[in-house]
Amino acid sequence: MKKLILAVSALALAGSAAFADPIADRKAIMKANGKAVGVIAPMVKGEKPFDAAAALDALETLSEDAQKIDVAALFPKGSETGGKTEASPKIWEDMAGFQAKVDKFRADAAAAVVAAPADLEALKVEFGKVAANCGGCHETFRIKKS
Ligand code: HEC
Repeated sequence: MKKLILAVSALALAGSAAFADPIADRKAIMKANGKAVGVIAPMVKGEKPFDAAAALDALETLSEDAQKIDVAALFPKGSETGGKTEASPKIWEDMAGFQAKVDKFRADAAAAVVAAPADLEALKVEFGKVAANCGGCHETFRIKKS
């Protein structure tokens, strides 16, 4: 009986931890960010023709990814170490500052989707605002390992 109770409570614990591997999960979201940027950046640079549908699709991905950055779930205490993360200890020193960066990214990405750029000039403006969030957060909160 005791064994059963233990097993059940272990299951309950697993169920409540929505993110089993927060480091892998946050990296996956960031990778998706990189992929979406990879769709839009060549258009903005003039390397690929402007494609309104593809651009909007990528902006929607960025907006969804931004919504997925649940700071408490993806950056729990203790997940700052382990050698497989580039997350800076500053995240845990300044949770409010980090959350503010997440909120700004969310707002800019959502606004870009609403704007739904219809031409290259509009895309440059909206993408510029969204992409500024990447470096804006990384410079403080990510330690790039070479
Ligand atoms: C609110 C802060 C924040 C914003 C905004 C942000 N990032 Fe990140 N990013 C991070 C952190 C923190 C890491 C390190 C995560 C880790 O290694 O645990 C990271 C890591 C990455 C990585 C490496 C992922 C890997 O596999 O190790 C890529 C690529 C990336 N970000 C791309 C982007 C792009 C592109 C944008 C903008 C569209 C963006 N990020 C916006 C905080 C942010």
